[in-house]
Amino acid sequence: MTLSLIARTIGESVTLKLNETAAILRAKGDPVIHLGGGEPKGKPPMDAILSAAALLNSGEVRYTPADGIPALKQAIIRYTEEFYGRSPAPENVLASGGAKQAIMVCLQAILNPQDEVIFPAPYWVSYPEMVKLVGAVPVPVTPEDGSFIPRIQDIEQVLSSYTRAVIINSPNNPSGAVYPESFIADVVELCERRGLYLIMDDIYHRLIFDGRTPVNCYEYAKDHTESSRLVVINGISKQYAMTGFRIGWAVANSTLIEAMTNIQGHQTSGPSALLQHAAVGAINGIQSSVNSLRMTLENNRNVLMDRLRSFNGVRVQEPGGTFYSFADFSAYEKDSVKLANFLLEKVQVVTVPGRDFGMDGHLRISYCGSIKDITEGIERMKWALDPDAPNELYIGDRKLVRDWT
Ligand SMILES: Cc1ncc(COP(=O)(O)O)c(C=O)c1O
Repeated sequence: MTLSLIARTIGESVTLKLNETAAILRAKGDPVIHLGGGEPKGKPPMDAILSAAALLNSGEVRYTPADGIPALKQAIIRYTEEFYGRSPAPENVLASGGAKQAIMVCLQAILNPQDEVIFPAPYWVSYPEMVKLVGAVPVPVTPEDGSFIPRIQDIEQVLSSYTRAVIINSPNNPSGAVYPESFIADVVELCERRGLYLIMDDIYHRLIFDGRTPVNCYEYAKDHTESSRLVVINGISKQYAMTGFRIGWAVANSTLIEAMTNIQGHQTSGPSALLQHAAVGAINGIQSSVNSLRMTLENNRNVLMDRLRSFNGVRVQEPGGTFYSFADFSAYEKDSVKLANFLLEKVQVVTVPGRDFGMDGHLRISYCGSIKDITEGIERMKWALDPDAPNELYIGDRKLVRDWT
């Protein structure tokens, strides 16, 4: 079959694929532990459910404006006031089918074929593919010092006449790193000076630990006019445990938002009315669930760090936010895909290979599940990898026998 040039360059989403594999194994009755997940397990806030249920009851579930219903745009404006100290106009706001769609239509609105987009590694698996979907060129930059914290020099070194945009995601998927304020200040300044779009993917900004507060990019911007090329992305998926509701948004200059709206209007139309109402409920409602999710995740992070630190040969940097850690297993196996497959096959633990995040030798280990999953998952991984481990391991009443060295 003949597929388009672009279609042939796009790989499948490894993270979504892993979810499928884990579900298939579970359905077969295998005792799978999923440490590869990208979603909190809690229930959505009650205000979200009530708001969606009220609309459903009314039966008025219709097409929505391409840029989102006014009530959601108002909720996003209020959110931006609360967390960023800025009051965008409704024309500066677009509600989308997830932060993913907001980023995608933004890239479609700003990029021409051959344009380059810079983002630090490790990076979210979708950035390179989304950039390629527009016919543009992803330019990942790996911090030279082996840390997960990019330096402005790293970005400057790969700037070219084709550079059109920079994407920054902090707290970061997959490393959990929270980039320092000084770096955010520098990257805002650099993008303003060079006339580049700066896409701040803030989807994890409230899931941040150790009493830190999220960095607000607007504080470092000099241009607050309609010429500003700063685009702030956010959504309800992670902070409200509402991944399946598929609502995200972008805040940017009105010309860009209009272009993104036009694209989205032809692509999917406005997001589902039902789910937008759920988002309004979540954003405007009682916020205690976000706080309790953050505290649970911080505790899970601490437990995971404790276990990983007692894992000989594994090097780990403590995540400052999100629900991911990105540990270096290269002492055991440099090929992360091989390693993740080995762990799945031998001890039924799902992890995500670092190669897909731009850093081989690492595994992304999530801590959005239960403490039991975290502790048992790491125990199983240790057993599989430690050559001095006993020959047998029991998972429930199943006996695993080591048939490898
Ligand atoms: C860094 C990052 N940005 C955006 C998204 C997309 O979020 P949404 O569910 O709102 O599309 C994800 C989801 O995993 C993510 O990790």
